Amino acid sequence: MSDHEHPGHDHRYGHGHERDRGLVAMVRYLGHAPEMWWSDVNTAVVDLVSPQAGEQVLDIGAGMGPGVVAAAARGATVVAVEPTPFMRRVLTVRRLWQRARSHIDIRSGAAEKLPADDASIDAVWAVNTMHHWVDPERGAAEIGRVLRTGGRVVLVDENFTDPSHPDYEEFGRRHSSDDENHHHGFTMVDAEQMGDWLRAAGVADVEASVRTVAGRPSTVVTAGVTG
Ligand SMILES: C[S@@+](CC[C@H](N)C(=O)[O-])C[C@H]1O[C@@H](n2cnc3c(N)ncnc32)[C@H](O)[C@@H]1O
Repeated sequence: MSDHEHPGHDHRYGHGHERDRGLVAMVRYLGHAPEMWWSDVNTAVVDLVSPQAGEQVLDIGAGMGPGVVAAAARGATVVAVEPTPFMRRVLTVRRLWQRARSHIDIRSGAAEKLPADDASIDAVWAVNTMHHWVDPERGAAEIGRVLRTGGRVVLVDENFTDPSHPDYEEFGRRHSSDDENHHHGFTMVDAEQMGDWLRAAGVADVEASVRTVAGRPSTVVTAGVTG
């Protein structure tokens, strides 16, 4: 297949958002390192995805890998897709001391350019990364391309600008110019819109909602999962 036959191989994509590059982004992420290392939301998302031994699953914008290590520990093979070199380096080191490290495959890529073959993935998830996507419609098309028929999807973005979010005040202090549609310069994705894009990409059983995940108000889009 040539680079021009499907959107995943378009060279304009695959490097993530420009705000995720460089020293400023690295310093911003280091400030969030504790919750990027381990988070209740990632644990809840992996529970929803329910990766099974022998499955091939994919975490979009895996970051430092809280979801990746949890899913690999369940026996699934996890493709950790991450555009930011700093994040890939951290996860590469973290992988070394995971008992399930042979089940963790770290790949450079982005939502808009998933490094996976057509219909090769049993389940896809993404935590707190949809609002970073340069082109979320293309991201939805890519999910539809790589997902096998009947595969599962869980996409969650916490809404830190909702006053009921436990980190609302701290987030407000750090990002005083944010409003409900913008998080530190990124644009929140509308759940219904993402649901429609996934359906258009051929994904079945899609549900979109705004609800809590691990007690945190979130934009949630799922396919093929219950709960
Ligand atoms: C707030 S972090 C979340 C990381 C991880 N999912 C977690 O829950 O800890 C956002 C991540 O999205 C990644 N990212 C940025 N642009 C992206 C894109 N277009 N596609 C996929 N991931 C992207 C960033 O590099 C970063 O690792």
